[in-house]
Amino acid sequence: MWWLELRVGMEHKVKEIREEAEKYAVNTIEELEAFRISFLGSKGKVKALFTDLKNVDQSQKREAGQLINGLREFVQEKFDAFKDRVENKSKTAKKLDLSRPGDQIEIGTRHPLSLVRSEIIEIFSRIGFTVSEGPEIEDDWHNFSALNFPAEHPARDMQDTFFIEKGKTPKDEIALRTHTSSVQVRMMENSQPPLRTISPGRVYRNEAISARAHCFFHQVEGLYIDKNVSFADLKQTLLYFAKEMFGENAQIRLRPSYFPFTEPSAEVDVSCTICNSKGCNVCKYTGWLEILGCGMVDPNVLEASNIDSKTFSGFAFGMGVERIAQLKYKVNDLRLYSENDVRFLRQFTSGM
Ligand code: PHE
Repeated sequence: MWWLELRVGMEHKVKEIREEAEKYAVNTIEELEAFRISFLGSKGKVKALFTDLKNVDQSQKREAGQLINGLREFVQEKFDAFKDRVENKSKTAKKLDLSRPGDQIEIGTRHPLSLVRSEIIEIFSRIGFTVSEGPEIEDDWHNFSALNFPAEHPARDMQDTFFIEKGKTPKDEIALRTHTSSVQVRMMENSQPPLRTISPGRVYRNEAISARAHCFFHQVEGLYIDKNVSFADLKQTLLYFAKEMFGENAQIRLRPSYFPFTEPSAEVDVSCTICNSKGCNVCKYTGWLEILGCGMVDPNVLEASNIDSKTFSGFAFGMGVERIAQLKYKVNDLRLYSENDVRFLRQFTSGM
């Protein structure tokens, strides 16, 4: 009864292989492949049993065949389950894991000039100034003539102004605006007093670029026109601004100056916030820092924009945003503001 032994032997083998497959653990694709080769491959354990089946007696073949088939199905199911697990695992590894903390998005910071510009606007808006803007490419009228610049005034000279189009006469010339007073002319042309507006914007001057000068910079100019506007109103407005910008202890002083569009005109210094007016290298040991130009609007300027200079008077002032930012942030080199070096730009926050 050799065939019976064979069959018993086969039953035993089937059981053994089944137990082995049951204990098998598969975690990786490599292990899955090893399992397949070992059990289901052409030289694998199940295949070997089928080869052995040839030696089983005809009368037992059917039964033995069913046994081996059962084993093959069992191993195949095991393989499929392993495969499912391993594949899912690698898929989920690649899939979005919603429980992970998000990737850091680097948030930009506001440019120091934008911060200062906003702060200036905010300070003046609290006392009723609106914001007005105009073109950077200006005609002679708005940049010069309407502002009482005589035709031969040196500020019209090529040295200061970037001309875009030469005209037959100076009056036909087109240039990059040299100040935002041009916007104030546009405001006066388009509306009657009372007028209370500030004009922030970029301006251009033909200067060699250095730590102290640039061919473009930013201004905020202010204009207030109404009945009975006096120099005292101007002074008080600027003192208010200085205190809001530089702190309650800030003082201002006015020095006589000249601008074609204001009469009288003054330059305004603020007490040095860096040394508390004791004298330092920033204020050049004077205790004062120059921050803006101002004056009472020249009647000629009002008339040029069809505002009755007998009924109305007004004041105007203009400051450089870079200048205020330099004082506020103690930055000495003007060029830093337009180089866009993020190491510089990242240092400024709006929470100041
Ligand atoms: N427009 C002047 C400048 O650019 C500043 C200024 C404005 C002076 C208004 C007086 C009055 O320098």
